[in-house]
Amino acid sequence: MKKRVFSGIQPTGNIHIGNYIGATRHWAADQDIYDNIFCIVDLHAITIQQDPKQIKSKIREVTGLLLAAGIDPQKSIVFVQSHVHEHSELAWILNCFIPMGWMGRMTQYKEKSSKQKEQVSVGLFDYPALMAADILLYDTDVVPVGEDQKQHVELTRDAALRFNNIYGDIFTVPEPRIAEIGARIMGLDDPTKKMSKSEEAPNHAIALLDPPDVIQKKIMRATTDSETTVVFDEKRPGIYNLLTIYKTFTGEKDKDIEAKFAGKGYGDFKKALAEVVIEGLRPLQERYQKITGEAGYIDKVLAEGAAKAHPLAQKTLAKVQKAVGLG
Ligand code: AMP
Ligand code: TRP
Repeated sequence: MKKRVFSGIQPTGNIHIGNYIGATRHWAADQDIYDNIFCIVDLHAITIQQDPKQIKSKIREVTGLLLAAGIDPQKSIVFVQSHVHEHSELAWILNCFIPMGWMGRMTQYKEKSSKQKEQVSVGLFDYPALMAADILLYDTDVVPVGEDQKQHVELTRDAALRFNNIYGDIFTVPEPRIAEIGARIMGLDDPTKKMSKSEEAPNHAIALLDPPDVIQKKIMRATTDSETTVVFDEKRPGIYNLLTIYKTFTGEKDKDIEAKFAGKGYGDFKKALAEVVIEGLRPLQERYQKITGEAGYIDKVLAEGAAKAHPLAQKTLAKVQKAVGLG
């Protein structure tokens, strides 16, 4: 029996190379090792107010990008969170078992809420309970995510253990899987901040669908420092981040990359990096055009995905309802 993988991505903003390097390329690469479920989490997206039309088109875009990154709907279930109502129902039940104090410690909540002040919704605070429901509904063993989601997966583990402690062995206790390299790609304009979909500064992120000239321009303008040598040094976050991107796209070793750019400056390195990223994304972009050019294909994938996910979710929810005395 293969282990179950579950992961999710929000249909908001533009998917960027951070999402790809930290998460989706691993989802695609490890498909044969695991039994996979990937979810487009629209219920999470509405924790911050969204334009309804945008969400609908983003769901299709994100799905297209997952398929273009190599996720194969024959091998993996791909579906939209709100199409399987059990996610909301289990989230409510988990709400009643997760202490406020656990939620209050979540750094993502602290960051997002500090930007929004009194507009913060209860949903944003409660976001990790819904994420725990996503994961626990499918007897998930492994949750491959970027570094920023680790704390949420740990909360999910704690919630599962707490629930099992009271009601017996109901939930599989999942573990996070964080990539060794590239689990936290930083913004090109500010390498002290995580590359984020919601950041609007024009040179912050490279979107997976950015055309070559835009990628080139963004990389050439990326913030570095006043040093000159192209070496992996965590104390120089700008060049370190660019080197990490280079490394994940080429698969080369640190010392080989450093040797290649010995005696060369940041300008030469940036040109080479732009080339590597442009060529690295080209096949994905071509596949995306093909996939989205086929009328109805994405909707069909999502409908089939929901039909496969639903009975699995139903089974777990029924077990939970029985355990707590509902129904
Ligand atoms: P999100 O953009 O929040 O929907 O995230 C989708 C996936 O991408 C999650 O597994 C995140 O942890 C991962 N991710 C998001 N931003 C980054 C980043 N800057 N570096 C690496 N992984 C990221
Ligand atoms: N919160 C995750 C993010 O923003 C997305 C997500 C929702 C998720 N549910 C999940 C990730 C379940 C892994 C497992 O990146």
